[in-house]
Amino acid sequence: MEREFIMIKPDGVQRGLIGEVVKRIENVGFKIIGLKLLKVSLAQAKQHYAIHKGKPFYDGLLEHITCGPVVAIVVEGKDAVRVTRKIVGATNPTDAVPGSIRGDLALEIGRNIIHAGDSPENAIYEYKIYFSEKEFVEYNKIDEEWLYE
Ligand code: RTP
Ligand code: MG
Repeated sequence: MEREFIMIKPDGVQRGLIGEVVKRIENVGFKIIGLKLLKVSLAQAKQHYAIHKGKPFYDGLLEHITCGPVVAIVVEGKDAVRVTRKIVGATNPTDAVPGSIRGDLALEIGRNIIHAGDSPENAIYEYKIYFSEKEFVEYNKIDEEWLYE
């Protein structure tokens, strides 16, 4: 099954939205195989956001993602990346549709609660910054035989 990397950013943690975000990810049927609370180091942040180096918002992004605890999550499921991006919503919360995490819960592009990998390849690149493969827990979920045909 495809894997997606998700991070609840410091603003999401501070606003008490861990449960709200995890609920939405679980509700669609994804299986959580990795989950941890951590503080992102500057070195990890630079690796994670290497693609944005040189952009005007880069420094602010590094500062924000390292400013407090985050929750790093890896899920497995059908079309995990494409479906997660829909659940997450547009980058700018004022463009994100109601029903999406950012559309329902945020207003600022620099405080948009959640990060998600934008391709299966990038998701793997990103989760490797925060997880080793042996940390993932493989198991059968009781609802799988009803979720998938
Ligand atoms: P993410 O990587 O966090 O899942 O968000 P995304 O793909 O929707 O957006 P991306 O273009 O990858 O940007 C990464 C994060 O940088 C901040 N940002 N600020 N001020 C700005 O114009 C601006 N543009 C991007 C956002 O916090 C965005 O999530
Ligand atoms: Mg992105």
